[in-house]
Amino acid sequence: MTTEDVAGLELVPADGLPLPALEPGAHVEFFIDRPGQPPLVRQYSVCNAPGESDAFVFGVKREPQSRGGSHWIHSLSPGDKVRLGAVRNLFPLSADAKSHVLLAGGIGITPVLAMAQHLASIAADYQVHYFVRGPEHVAFRERLAASSSLGRLHVHAGLDGPQVRALLGEIFARPKPGAHAYCCGPGVFMDTVAAVAAGEWPEERVHFERFQAPVAQQTTASDTAFDVILHKSGRRCHVEAGQSIVQALAAAGCDLMTSCEQGVCGTCLSNVLEGTPDHRDAYLSKSEREGGRLILPCVSRSKTATLVLDL
Ligand code: FES
Repeated sequence: MTTEDVAGLELVPADGLPLPALEPGAHVEFFIDRPGQPPLVRQYSVCNAPGESDAFVFGVKREPQSRGGSHWIHSLSPGDKVRLGAVRNLFPLSADAKSHVLLAGGIGITPVLAMAQHLASIAADYQVHYFVRGPEHVAFRERLAASSSLGRLHVHAGLDGPQVRALLGEIFARPKPGAHAYCCGPGVFMDTVAAVAAGEWPEERVHFERFQAPVAQQTTASDTAFDVILHKSGRRCHVEAGQSIVQALAAAGCDLMTSCEQGVCGTCLSNVLEGTPDHRDAYLSKSEREGGRLILPCVSRSKTATLVLDL
């Protein structure tokens, strides 16, 4: 354990081969097979330092509200086998950034840690702001030591919501030319960062790693129902309020391939032929959203009574 509720995990390839090249910010899919239960796919960021290629390093928080992933990982023992999928990076450092502001809330330190270790190794200009409930919740202290000794690590412990917002206001009020900001953490933390940064920094210079769609965008029972037409078969499927398109299609016997089911991985990406999507994901770019021809049906909905998908 790296704190009382964050497990540090090192996974060595069973075939003995070196790991693929890992960019800072990358994550890996875990296939979680539990006897008698549906399989799960979860994504966890790698914390590896540059050149650390003998084992994947992860930090996983035990989530009381876990849908199965973190509970399963915390039950692993040395020697257990874990099936991993693709390595992806939806949270890369910007190649043209002149300086980097890294913002981590709690377990959001994992991709930020990989970034900080990389930036320290190339003597880049960066600062890490790490928000934790208390000093005892600082994870991976030894891996943060280089940033700490360089004076680039700022731990903010025990702040309440208004204090976090005020501090973020100070951080975003003094942007250096060419600075980019990167944020990972709980949804509420990232929503706060997005709200504070909006209007202060250009949107393209503030990057988020989400493993869940923004809180304000999640499906609720107050959403309106609509119909989806599958263009290739001509089938019509009714999507109730509080139900996702993927769930409605599955109930009608049409299974779409999914992974995160949180609107963050892109596995269920589908083409829209008619209708206006109501985007609830954290995957599409601003221009893709505005184009209206793509949708992540695991979380997104329709603004029109009918949506025609190229399925
Ligand atoms: S399954 Fe990951 S975005 Fe839909």
